[in-house]
Amino acid sequence: MDLTAAARKVNETGYGYIASWALLTACEQRLFDRLPASSADLTDTYPDPDLVDTWLHVLAEQGFVEQKEATWQMPESMERLLVGDNSYADYLGGQILQQMAPRMTLGVGETNVLADVLLDPDSRVGYEGWFADAAEAEAYQASQYAGSLGPAKAIAASLPSPDGRVLDLGGGWGAVARSIVKHHDVDVDVVDLGAVVDSAPPVNDRVSFVSGNALDSATWPTDTNGVQYDGAVLSYLFSSIPGDTHEPLLDDLVERDVRWIAIHDFMVGSGAHAAAWSLQHAVFVPDHRSRSVDELSSMLDDRGSEVEQSSTVVDEMTTLVIGCRS
Ligand SMILES: C[S@@+](CC[C@H](N)C(=O)[O-])C[C@H]1O[C@@H](n2cnc3c(N)ncnc32)[C@H](O)[C@@H]1O
Repeated sequence: MDLTAAARKVNETGYGYIASWALLTACEQRLFDRLPASSADLTDTYPDPDLVDTWLHVLAEQGFVEQKEATWQMPESMERLLVGDNSYADYLGGQILQQMAPRMTLGVGETNVLADVLLDPDSRVGYEGWFADAAEAEAYQASQYAGSLGPAKAIAASLPSPDGRVLDLGGGWGAVARSIVKHHDVDVDVVDLGAVVDSAPPVNDRVSFVSGNALDSATWPTDTNGVQYDGAVLSYLFSSIPGDTHEPLLDDLVERDVRWIAIHDFMVGSGAHAAAWSLQHAVFVPDHRSRSVDELSSMLDDRGSEVEQSSTVVDEMTTLVIGCRS
């Protein structure tokens, strides 16, 4: 890399937070729902049109909006992603702006969270500590649900044709579970922490929410209740629990005799956003461990589950690894 390219890279990353914050704020404010409009049209909410234009010029530089004379509008592809209820804007303006960004940057205590955790890794409290506040759990899940609807369709479509009940560990409000029901016409049990399950909106009777702990198989629906699972889905679960629990959890699934295990997560070597999202979790999940596709494949292989396929789900960000018992 020559010096000019190096300087450009430093600036791009060092100042990247400005465009990022401008986008997240537009999502939080539901600005995109109001376009096309001129800044003057928006003065009922934002009294200074010059300030709004400055904000929108940043978004225009990134391709989110474009200006035709005085009117700001969106390219069709951006409109499809960022306009409306349950759009990607809900997720970015909700969980990302309000919960994730503060958890890595200046936090509630206004100190650098990343630096604090690097210096004191034992200070991390994990999802269980975070969701001890039920309102935080509910706000998080509402956004997570919106953010997972897209990946959920891709995950469901890639599963090895479930022909029986599916266990979704750490399944949140069931975005993936609902997609599996729709795609494969099988029932799904979602196991998640109490605060998550208690706030989950009602679904149909094909998805059951079970308050439990992915790390304690005694809390999953049991064989004695006549429950046999064809397969298990772990979507973002390995990023959300301590690294030394990954292998015991797979052992528990093998003991439950599942035919296949699908792991969807941020994986080392799967792109820039995968590395970034691993860090975003590592700052609050105790003993977080980043895993590569090869590592997960050999963990599954060691347990008699052959990995026939691994595929990208979210570009540069998430991968799906599926191990199937032969
Ligand atoms: C990033 S979210 C993913 C939610 C969902 N699987 C999806 O793909 O949208 C991680 C989920 O793991 C859950 N989780 C974390 N630790 C858990 C544990 N020990 N037992 C059960 N669920 C857990 C969290 O409550 C949260 O719902």
